[in-house]
Amino acid sequence: MAKYKIAWLPGDGVGNEVMECTRIVLDRLGFDAEYIHGDIGWEFWKSEGEALPERTKEMMKETDCALFGAITSKPKEEAAMELTPELQDKGFVYFSPIVKLRQEFNLHTNLRPCKAYSGNPLNYKDEIDIAIFRENTEGMYGGVEFFPLPPDVFDVLDTNHPKMKKFAHHGVENIAMSTRIMTKHGCENIIRQAFEYAKKFDRKSVTVVDKPNVLRETGGLMIRTAREVAKNYPGIDLWETNIDAQCMWLVKNPEDYEVIVAENMFGDILSDLAAQLVGGLGFACSANIGDEYAVFEPTHGSAPKYFGQYKVNPTAMILTAKMMLDWLGESAMADRLEQAVCEVISERKVGTYDVGLDNTSLEVAEAIAEKL
Ligand code: IPM
Ligand code: MG
Repeated sequence: MAKYKIAWLPGDGVGNEVMECTRIVLDRLGFDAEYIHGDIGWEFWKSEGEALPERTKEMMKETDCALFGAITSKPKEEAAMELTPELQDKGFVYFSPIVKLRQEFNLHTNLRPCKAYSGNPLNYKDEIDIAIFRENTEGMYGGVEFFPLPPDVFDVLDTNHPKMKKFAHHGVENIAMSTRIMTKHGCENIIRQAFEYAKKFDRKSVTVVDKPNVLRETGGLMIRTAREVAKNYPGIDLWETNIDAQCMWLVKNPEDYEVIVAENMFGDILSDLAAQLVGGLGFACSANIGDEYAVFEPTHGSAPKYFGQYKVNPTAMILTAKMMLDWLGESAMADRLEQAVCEVISERKVGTYDVGLDNTSLEVAEAIAEKL
């Protein structure tokens, strides 16, 4: 019997290709795992009205963790139009399967390391090494949204909230509302994870990013909680910044930041910005981590226009597998893998189009495997 059971979720488009590449590398490493394929993605939305079928979730529960490729997502109306005719107008509503996985498996912590590997021609600056901790289940991703505004929700707000007055005359049918619900527990957890990481890897600061000057209640909770948690970590400074200014500073002085922690939406935005500073989506790996389960996914999407060409950079997915190895406690393998990736990047002999070379994804994977 293999040591690990891994749910294998390639998803859509180039997700399949970068997963194939990752498998080459994992096999060469000698990683002892049984991989169990799971259906997920656009195809299942169209044919079943569910991009994350129940059977996939059940299968995942029997595994140690999941590797996930990429997913195609479209806005509500467009998604509805692509449903098979038998399912049209039956009340199916598209919901991103990755967001659903994060919610249903309570994968509360999204870790997105952004590290400038030496020799990557796409590095914005060579000294960048930032770990972003993004709260992964709350905030604007909590899914508490309304359109039109239900009359009872309207009434409660209209009666109890002075600020509602200025919206009321528009009428419920003209008001859309997406809430940002954050809990003390959610804030505390993500901030603690960020500090624990800083402690483990000897980082001197943690930057908590929000917008408490405007989002006074949710942002206020985040900042107050950060101050409380920080007291338990003497020697690690807490820096507090606003999301808008932080975007500017990440472009100006990215090397100043070591660990960044933010709620869901702000973390989403910051992690794309930070990824671009170290080579873009071809290098951006991430982990969705819960108490007992984790789903590892590259930050990039399914890139439909490149599908079938083995053109995209598999490094993000391969570094994602490295995060999986770390989480499983296979740190020696994780280090060897990262080292092999580093060598291939710095040699600049084999690479995909994004780094100015013309190899296929598979050739990049092979080059990494060679180093192993
Ligand atoms: C990400 C992506 C997702 C998100 C999308 C695909 C729903 O942007 O993982 O950052 O917004 O979380
Ligand atoms: Mg994103």
